[in-house]
Amino acid sequence: MKFIADAGGVLRGEARVPGDKSLSHRSIMLGAIAQGVTRVSGFLEGEDALATVAAFRAMGVRIEGPEQGRVVVHGVGMHGLQRPAVALDVGNAGTGMRLLAGLLAGQAFDSELTGDVSLCGRPMGRVIDPLTEMGASITAEPGGKPPLRIAGGKPLHGIDYHLPMASAQVKSCVLLAGMYAEGETSVTEPAPTRDHTERMLSGFGYPVQRSANRCTLRGGGTLTACDIDVPADISSAAFLLVGATIAPDSDLLLTHVGINPTRIGVLNILRLMGADITVDNQREVGGEPVADIRVKSAPLNGVEIPLEQVPLAIDEFPVLFIAAACARGTTVLRGAQELRVKESDRIAAMAEGLQTLGIQAQVLDDGIVIEGGEFGGGDIRTFHDHRIAMSFAIAALRAKSAIHILECDHVATSFPGFDVLMNRLGLSITVEQD
Ligand code: S3P
Repeated sequence: MKFIADAGGVLRGEARVPGDKSLSHRSIMLGAIAQGVTRVSGFLEGEDALATVAAFRAMGVRIEGPEQGRVVVHGVGMHGLQRPAVALDVGNAGTGMRLLAGLLAGQAFDSELTGDVSLCGRPMGRVIDPLTEMGASITAEPGGKPPLRIAGGKPLHGIDYHLPMASAQVKSCVLLAGMYAEGETSVTEPAPTRDHTERMLSGFGYPVQRSANRCTLRGGGTLTACDIDVPADISSAAFLLVGATIAPDSDLLLTHVGINPTRIGVLNILRLMGADITVDNQREVGGEPVADIRVKSAPLNGVEIPLEQVPLAIDEFPVLFIAAACARGTTVLRGAQELRVKESDRIAAMAEGLQTLGIQAQVLDDGIVIEGGEFGGGDIRTFHDHRIAMSFAIAALRAKSAIHILECDHVATSFPGFDVLMNRLGLSITVEQD
């Protein structure tokens, strides 16, 4: 599938973007092993989260929906999952695979986790190592790549794990395995990362102790079903935040957006660049902060991105690079090696696309240097990465001619209906089969 994004446009109106991907995955996983019925609303009906639903159905969990964002999970308790008859295919989802690896390491049955071509190229050693230290037995393809074969019935013991990289997926994997381990499991992170697992565990009544960069839980507890209202995904809102900032005369209201402090790097960085963003109607929904966000067009300046913002904006860099391309002056990003092992190598993929449009982008090992300027259109490769595709669609708002974005099928993993919503708000996108 190919997107043809016409040059120019003004973004105006109001929208609630689809539900948060991280929270949607976790709501199914924790709901499945809880006691009782968990009712989820605002669930992301995107392919990644749907793959997690399918995985738990394959392990005998009754799940109703999703229907207009509503899902009902009939929890089977900590030890009620059943051996799946086939390999669990989590599609494109790193979160699905890494969190499930932790959960499955604690089960009595053998299992296998697989995914699409992109996911099968991504590193899983980062979860295999701590799980092995806990007593799990997992085999992978050379280089620690999926599929993962997880042996059941291995007694786990708690560990005190210091994450070698800032990764919420690895942290969550170890915590989920820790619920099945003897004794205490602690995870210390080098920098704060999204804390949805810790918050949601508390919401399900599982005690988690937290201090600055460390969290601890004790194995052998239980989860009690609860209701979960998933806010709109700030990572999806990010495309509109950048779009409305760079498209002259724009004015957008994004409602019910999750603004967890571990996710708001995109707001902080855009404001540092000069964006006109106001956050109103702040409230807390099911343990997660939520707000309405208003954004109006504004001229941007290049910045050096503060290192501490990197983990807080890790999924938003592709579209932040588009903001940088529209800014006056130079933007420098460092300390973002993790971008190289996302759904694509996002530094290389974005640099190639920006250069195609005529923007100067210099690749660094751990980041990029972007010179803002005027740019044209062109044919863009996305490497089947949803966020690369949507970022270049947003770039069209300021391009001199249309941008043709190839390989857009994966947009539905995180933002189903992206093209329809953008057309309604003021960016013309035509979808063609390629
Ligand atoms: C996620 C954590 C991040 C992020 C991903 C979702 C999560 O990955 O990039 O999209 O839900 O825990 P890492 O933990 O690899 O940084």
